Amino acid sequence: MSTLRAKQLIRDNLNIPTLPAIVERISTLMADPEVGTAEVGEVVGQDAPLAAKVLRIANSAYYGLRERCLSTEQASSVLGLRVLKNVVTQASVIQQFEHLRGFAGFDIDQLWHHSILTATACAELAKHCTGRVLLDPEEFYVCGLLHDLGKVVMLDAMGESYLEAFLEAARSGERLHVVEERRFGFNHTDVGSLVATRWQLPVAAASAIQFHHGPRENVQQDPVVALVANANLLAHRVAEGRLEEAAATLDAETAGFLGLDPARVPEIVAAVKAAQGAIAV
Ligand SMILES: [Fe+2]
Ligand SMILES: [Fe+2]
Repeated sequence: MSTLRAKQLIRDNLNIPTLPAIVERISTLMADPEVGTAEVGEVVGQDAPLAAKVLRIANSAYYGLRERCLSTEQASSVLGLRVLKNVVTQASVIQQFEHLRGFAGFDIDQLWHHSILTATACAELAKHCTGRVLLDPEEFYVCGLLHDLGKVVMLDAMGESYLEAFLEAARSGERLHVVEERRFGFNHTDVGSLVATRWQLPVAAASAIQFHHGPRENVQQDPVVALVANANLLAHRVAEGRLEEAAATLDAETAGFLGLDPARVPEIVAAVKAAQGAIAV
């Protein structure tokens, strides 16, 4: 089915979530040169449950801060606004789907863990890719964070019938996006890219989400797509403890295409591995 037709089907059947209001508010504040770091932190602090989540993430081993942050104002000055915005995005997206925790048969925490690890892999790769990629590491982090969000949106909207697709893929060993496509006429990459568009992420981010499982031509033509697709593979392999295969994801051809010095691959894999045990969901 064509992507356009798939998107129409999604619009007719699913509710595409809106950008969390707090993330929109932060973006507006960040665009205003008069607004200071503490002020942005203060706004985040007004939502107590969100602030608690943000502080938990900021204080997790992942960020390796020397001193514990006790307030969101402090977190914003220690992490910087761009990182804080990603932490808030992460916390608020997870919070938005809190009700899916405990959905029998679907381990949503595992999906968040994978999403955050892919986000890390994206940002690590982006830090070392010079000149070939259009987005900065923080924007790539968001691509990784949201690349599989379509699964969550589909589970939320379709419940048991989505779970059946998920279980069928697990049973047969077929790729989940292939099973989704057969059963519903669209897959989580179509849904995820609609979310990215609705949230006004850069066009390159929406297309990276759309093509993170291929087709191959798209991955081979666009370094942004290639970076996210390879970060996804890297995160899977690191999570499964297949570190040599993780390093092999970034072979000479891929590295060349991304503008990545192959000598940097071991440290990228090591950084993703280090993040794996330090993620707070
Ligand atoms: Fe995926
Ligand atoms: Fe994934």
